[in-house]
Amino acid sequence: MSHLPVLPVEVLELLAPKAGEVFLDGTLGLGGHAGLILEKIRKTGKLIGLDLDSRNLELAQNNLQKFSNLETHQANFRDLLKFTSPASLDGILLDLGVSSLHFDDASRGFSFQNLGKLDMRFDSTQPLDAAAILNSFPENEIADIFYKFGEIRSSRKIAKQIVEFRRKQKFRQTEDLVNLIAHPKLLPQVFQALRIRVNSELENLEQGLNSAVEALKSGGRIAVISFHSLEDRIVKNFFREQKKLKILEILTKKAVGPSASELAENPRSRSAKLRGARKF
Ligand SMILES: C[S@@+](CC[C@H](N)C(=O)[O-])C[C@H]1O[C@@H](n2cnc3c(N)ncnc32)[C@H](O)[C@@H]1O
Repeated sequence: MSHLPVLPVEVLELLAPKAGEVFLDGTLGLGGHAGLILEKIRKTGKLIGLDLDSRNLELAQNNLQKFSNLETHQANFRDLLKFTSPASLDGILLDLGVSSLHFDDASRGFSFQNLGKLDMRFDSTQPLDAAAILNSFPENEIADIFYKFGEIRSSRKIAKQIVEFRRKQKFRQTEDLVNLIAHPKLLPQVFQALRIRVNSELENLEQGLNSAVEALKSGGRIAVISFHSLEDRIVKNFFREQKKLKILEILTKKAVGPSASELAENPRSRSAKLRGARKF
């Protein structure tokens, strides 16, 4: 099983990996980008790959088995300094969010189009899943999740319906939630919001960016691919702050999106936005 990496040419251009360099891929996924970087850093270089999802990690190890200089860990990229020292890396990649496999596997509960357990955890050992949030969080917290992470205006109404539903029965399956949402147009935002909360995605990104800058050497590069405006805003603002502090030089004036040919070949790239920076 493989995964078509998004913006492959643009990522390599920004990260400019060279023989002998040390890289960290904080979102290894199925190893698509990692394979491209490993080819460039050659045997003399090293790549540390992290992923929260043990299944993706196994698939990546299998896809990248020809490379002896790959070190993998099931870990959150916000903890990347556990696996490398400050000022040690030539490059870091974060390709945020879900892999296509997450959407395709109904049992993981990421897709409103598939019937499956209302789960949505990247790390299946984490106790909190999507059903637990809907079954136990106070109504106002549920409304906040949909408002903040899904930008849904009718968040209070949805939260009220959720609390009414759970008085009668527990949320278990994706269809329990799908059937409750009167406007199908809202389903992508509803599912996105819950997923972001289940996996603390925005906090991970904020902490991960800080750790990444600390882990980069002078001259080291960072590339971040995001898939929605909440993430992209965090990356954009973080790079701007670090520029003011004269810690990072921004390499992408505007976020880079997919070319027409990539869009035709890989529709998943549609909402991808890439930003890059270099440490002074
Ligand atoms: C878009 S996919 C990466 C695809 C990869 N670049 C490739 O080419 O195959 C994102 C991956 O990041 C993982 N992930 C999401 N948040 C994470 C985090 N905070 N720490 C580590 N891995 C994370 C997900 O489990 C998923 O496998």
